[in-house]
Amino acid sequence: MKRWRVRTATSPLRGEVSVPGDKSIGHRALIFAALAEGDCVVRGLSGGLDNLATADALREMGVAIEREGSTARVGGVGLRGLRIPPGQLDCGNSGTTMRLLAGLLVAQRFGTRLVGDASLSRRPMKRLIEPLRARGGLIAGTVRLESQDLYAPLSVAPLLEHEHLIGLEHEMGVASAQVKTALLLSGLYARGLTAIREPVLSRDHTERMLRALGVPLERLGPMVVLDPSEWRGGWDPFEWEVPGDPSSAAFFLAAAHLVPKSEITVKSVCVNPTRTGFFDVLRAMGSTAYLLPQGDAAGDEPLADVLVERSVSLVGTRTGGELVTRMIDEVPAFAAMAAGARGRTEIRDAEELRVKESDRIATMTLVLRAFGVACEELEDGLRIEGGARLKAAHVQSGGDHRIAMSAAVLALRAEGETIVDDVDCVDTSFPGFAATLRALGADIVEEHVAADVDSAPRSGVVGSAGGAS
Ligand code: S3P
Repeated sequence: MKRWRVRTATSPLRGEVSVPGDKSIGHRALIFAALAEGDCVVRGLSGGLDNLATADALREMGVAIEREGSTARVGGVGLRGLRIPPGQLDCGNSGTTMRLLAGLLVAQRFGTRLVGDASLSRRPMKRLIEPLRARGGLIAGTVRLESQDLYAPLSVAPLLEHEHLIGLEHEMGVASAQVKTALLLSGLYARGLTAIREPVLSRDHTERMLRALGVPLERLGPMVVLDPSEWRGGWDPFEWEVPGDPSSAAFFLAAAHLVPKSEITVKSVCVNPTRTGFFDVLRAMGSTAYLLPQGDAAGDEPLADVLVERSVSLVGTRTGGELVTRMIDEVPAFAAMAAGARGRTEIRDAEELRVKESDRIATMTLVLRAFGVACEELEDGLRIEGGARLKAAHVQSGGDHRIAMSAAVLALRAEGETIVDDVDCVDTSFPGFAATLRALGADIVEEHVAADVDSAPRSGVVGSAGGAS
């Protein structure tokens, strides 16, 4: 098991860094390449385990995928070319792998079973299963006595020769790009329209990519309509470059604002407007960070370098509504940054955080308190009193990559040496995180400890430095 030791930053962070390819776009690029009519190249993929889980699942279904560094050569098999996998498909920790593949698999003429790790097996699947069933998909989740929802493992039965999926009009209860994408993927095979309405527009990478591939798809605000009636039923091979992940960039921007006078540049980040809530809220807090446009990446995704020149101290803010949807994965980094801002920060309308890789409202509350931050856990968010002196802490990630990285950036501002336990999970999205933070001047050391050495505080997820809690 890996852990980090992080010391207070004694001088400003400085330098230029790159982040791994965007995880959401990586999953989609691999799936669309697998379904293309010929050989595709996807460059700039993150080496994270989540994208690898999608690649492995596609391989299990007969797609040839060769990886060399961040480039994947994918032998597309066409929309009807996937084959029955020899066993169950393991999605690991990746909710996106499971939900996206479920949408694809309900349309196939073979059956499959999707499994995940303990964290993924606790995440809600009813929101996915119900609309897929409504269009004729034969998909079942696992029932748990103590809950109203459905969970992984998911079992998908084959459609027979004379069976097919039908059109679907669906109003989503929560904005979810994973569910939206699953419905659009199943819609590629359906006889009839797929019309989806979200309460707020979630990330729209799937819509942009499908349109770039010539799929007849229209969008009107938070409503998307796919009409395959006149469509030829496939797309040509492509070469795509995945832009940098704004959710990974957020940790460096938070770090730059926690360590005064820092000067950093994060290169080639995806600045699709459905992903830029974190940059917007930064500005509302008084940051002088700015975006330097760098054109478009393939799949119609705008790119920019993000610059912070001599970071200034920020003031607390209140955020909620659609802004939170546009920064949902950045909330842990944002909460860490808010601890260093003057005054109160309140994050509302973020209840979805309770069903991510961990319950991020609860885990972030514990982490912040361990560093000495006064933080109130709200049903749908957090209330953080910023500006207090932070003390070093001994915290656990709770198996959640974004919690681990948020704790590391908080530690830069805290007095003393912080230990972050159980950081193996960071490999799901950002295997080189500690080295990248070190390149900016942070004192962070990664060490391996035997899994049976219980270095963690005995009670709860976190404790103050020294392990006493
Ligand atoms: C993702 C969508 C979001 C996000 C997740 C990736 C995607 O989840 O939190 O990390 O790639 O579609 P929801 O769809 O559950 O909102």
